[in-house]
Amino acid sequence: MNMIAPGEDGARSHWESIYNASSCERLSWYQENPEDSLRLIQESGVLPDAAVIDAGGGASSLASCLLTLGFQDVSVLDFSEEAMAQARKRMDTRAEQVSWIRGDIRSFRTDRSFMLWHDRAVFHFMAGEEDRRRYLDTLDACLDPDGLAIIGTFALTGPSKCSRLNVEQYDAERIAGVFAPRFEILSTMGSTHHTPSGASQDFMFFTFRRKRKS
Ligand SMILES: C[S@@+](CC[C@H](N)C(=O)[O-])C[C@H]1O[C@@H](n2cnc3c(N)ncnc32)[C@H](O)[C@@H]1O
Repeated sequence: MNMIAPGEDGARSHWESIYNASSCERLSWYQENPEDSLRLIQESGVLPDAAVIDAGGGASSLASCLLTLGFQDVSVLDFSEEAMAQARKRMDTRAEQVSWIRGDIRSFRTDRSFMLWHDRAVFHFMAGEEDRRRYLDTLDACLDPDGLAIIGTFALTGPSKCSRLNVEQYDAERIAGVFAPRFEILSTMGSTHHTPSGASQDFMFFTFRRKRKS
């Protein structure tokens, strides 16, 4: 199923041109097996009948891996139609089991709610306060009250640029400062990603839930 969400802006063409210029296997963030994400999703206790969204999923194989694990309600949201076309091509007919949504995370809205929001290497591109606030507004609007968000960003020792764009780097304290007061961190995990060209990039993964009222 393909949908187009409103509210896109010029940043989309940047990402579209990146995916048009290269097959996803050559991009720095490419992973054949998104093992950190899969491990965290399985450890989160979210069940396979839960609605899951990979926000900024691009051409990642995560959606395909989740279907293999038995997840039945998987959505991918991304700016780039070309990125999602590359993911769909690899999945062949199984791609029809995924909802592919072309849109901007910062303005995305749906009448559905997700038990799990996953983002690897997207939030760190939210370089200004306004973009971060809009991202959090979307997360707030789309996440089930009991839902979880797994967010992977560059660590403090990670790159400061990616795809010619500035990125923010995070540790638990820094990201908690952005996500509070709406969300609280349940767990953190460091990881080193090895890019297709052989470089190492330090990542941090954070699992959030909504802050409970005390
Ligand atoms: C570095 S890539 C990571 C892709 C994927 N999460 C992965 O781990 O392979 C960043 C992705 O975020 C998407 N993206 C960036 N900003 C976005 C936004 N505001 N709305 C939707 N997608 C966005 C890009 O199109 C790109 O696919």
